[in-house]
Amino acid sequence: MRIVLLGPPGAGKGTQAKSISNRYSIPHISTGDIFRKNISEQTPLGIEAKKHIDKGHLVPDDLTIDIVKDRLSQRDCDKGFLLDGFPRTVRQAEALEEFLSSKGKKLNTALLIDVPRDFILERMTGRRVCPACGASYHIKFNPPAIEGRCDLCGTDIIQRKDDKESTVKERLDVYDSQTQPLIDYYKSKDLLSVVYGTKAINEVFESICNILGSDRNGNN
Ligand code: AP5
Ligand code: MG
Ligand code: ZN
Repeated sequence: MRIVLLGPPGAGKGTQAKSISNRYSIPHISTGDIFRKNISEQTPLGIEAKKHIDKGHLVPDDLTIDIVKDRLSQRDCDKGFLLDGFPRTVRQAEALEEFLSSKGKKLNTALLIDVPRDFILERMTGRRVCPACGASYHIKFNPPAIEGRCDLCGTDIIQRKDDKESTVKERLDVYDSQTQPLIDYYKSKDLLSVVYGTKAINEVFESICNILGSDRNGNN
């Protein structure tokens, strides 16, 4: 099963991606997580990406596309994958399509998690993330079992630097101008499915599973 997750910042892509990846046994590939790991390790990629991310802007297409192609070329993606936060521009979407078709493959679904702007600020400012495994929490809507600690790996959870209000607004504007056009792009290819991301986390997951079907081995 080859899936891309679309949706504005704070829609719940990372939250749902963890559950989808477990249920359907496909790797969860988040470009945001890849960049953040490189930033924390201060690699050349991380140093370059940080300049853009801290301002709420996109990392340049060429850089991002190369990283995703490398990652999709790894063996664990043979059975499928779940892309979270990629593509984010029409150019990235075209590059993905070309890459897959060169391997005789195509996407199964572009899944949009639709959340209106009003919900987003509260979600972003209350978000805490695990710097080690990328898990996402919310102080009100999805707190960890032990305050301040990741449920999955025990690491202290932190607030993301780009979750301050002014940067969130910039990220939303970038989403509207550069990523929103992908909705029509995938609609025109008959690949778009939409779930409403305003319900509780487990209810959103249920809607996603209804769309993706019951095959847990990624053979769809
Ligand atoms: P990225 O890390 O992808 O950030 P994003 O797309 O802005 O999305 P978020 O991770 O902020 O939100 P999410 O949808 O994952 O929500 P979450 O599940 O955490 O990218 C960061 C930056 O990297 C970009 O700005 C860009 O600079 C760069 N970048 C990344 N990919 C790129 C690309 N392809 N090209 C160029 N640049 C790229 O949930 C949010 C909060 O809400 C959490 O606290 C969660 O617990 C809570 N929550 C989730 N679901 C619910 C629910 N149903 N009800 C209540 N609360 C909920
Ligand atoms: Mg995320
Ligand atoms: Zn963790």
